[in-house]
Amino acid sequence: MIKTTNLTKRFGENTAVRAVSLEVPRGEVFGFLGPNGAGKTTTVRLLSALIGPSEGTAVVNGFDVVREPMQVRRTVGVLTETPGMYDRLSAEYNLLIYARLYEVEQPEKAVQKYLSVLELWDRRKEAVGGFSKGMKQKLAIARALLHEPQTVFLDEPTSGLDPVAARTVREFIEQLKTEGRTIFLTTHNLDEAERLCDRVGVMRASLIAVDSPEALRRRLFGLKVRVQLANLADSHRQAAAGLPFVHGVEVENGALLVDLAEPERNNPALVAALVGAGAQVQYVQPSEASLEDVYMQLVNGGEAQPAGRGK
Ligand SMILES: Nc1ncnc2c1ncn2[C@@H]1O[C@H](COP(=O)(O)OP(=O)(O)OP(=O)(O)O)[C@@H](O)[C@H]1O
Ligand SMILES: [Mg+2]
Repeated sequence: MIKTTNLTKRFGENTAVRAVSLEVPRGEVFGFLGPNGAGKTTTVRLLSALIGPSEGTAVVNGFDVVREPMQVRRTVGVLTETPGMYDRLSAEYNLLIYARLYEVEQPEKAVQKYLSVLELWDRRKEAVGGFSKGMKQKLAIARALLHEPQTVFLDEPTSGLDPVAARTVREFIEQLKTEGRTIFLTTHNLDEAERLCDRVGVMRASLIAVDSPEALRRRLFGLKVRVQLANLADSHRQAAAGLPFVHGVEVENGALLVDLAEPERNNPALVAALVGAGAQVQYVQPSEASLEDVYMQLVNGGEAQPAGRGK
């Protein structure tokens, strides 16, 4: 569980995090997006009590990050951008050091569990200095979980990983979710955010938008509807374009792509008008803007646009 109120962090003149108020309920996977320098990592460091805020408050797992930083650290796991490991020590030993530091009850067992899940058990005796980037990343994720934290902060967990390693990590995140943990995930991979996250927040020093990926798309773009006809003709396009609730119609791959307000309410009238114009309707499907479109619009366009408008 995470709750922040006006959370702010300044570095000299530079306000890295500005008045962020955010609530992430227990068990949610929350995606944190935003361009380089947006303040994502700074927010993670604030929420895991590694640095203190300039203003505002944050409560994580019921503990205040300023008044109870030790309790916060004990109940969160953090994967940082540059996880430091002892290069000359083995993977297993690196984790054991941490497990003891965090006073894990059965350190050997915890280490074995997470080395196995992250597919590093066979390499446990090797020095970490010889690990590939992906292996180091997985090891760092294992380390963040050893003390079974309720809330897990993963700062770009799949960055630089090959597709197979990235998938292992994503599946691992899904598993963490089923265990009821709260996951705060920063990423530049919008596809990943869309697949994993219940909600996403878009950051640019302040929080520009927070919603489900689906709702964000709707808010910015409305929904387009793809209507496939057996006998597509320009008269059908004109019939659709003439309807009062239709913002625009394009032809794409032999289908009409109709940008309209309130699709659930207006689709029946759209279909009726097309049929009236002699169209043979084969399929009617939602055709959604990708999260990437939404992100670009938010980050470049500043404030969110009013609902229901097309591109
Ligand atoms: N310790 C620090 N001292 C001074 N400035 C800092 C410090 N840490 C972060 N900043 C500044 O705060 C701003 C936000 O940085 P942050 O690392 O949080 O961004 P980010 O969203 O994680 O970016 P990226 O996507 O590149 O990881 C940047 O302008 C950065 O230079
Ligand atoms: Mg960062």
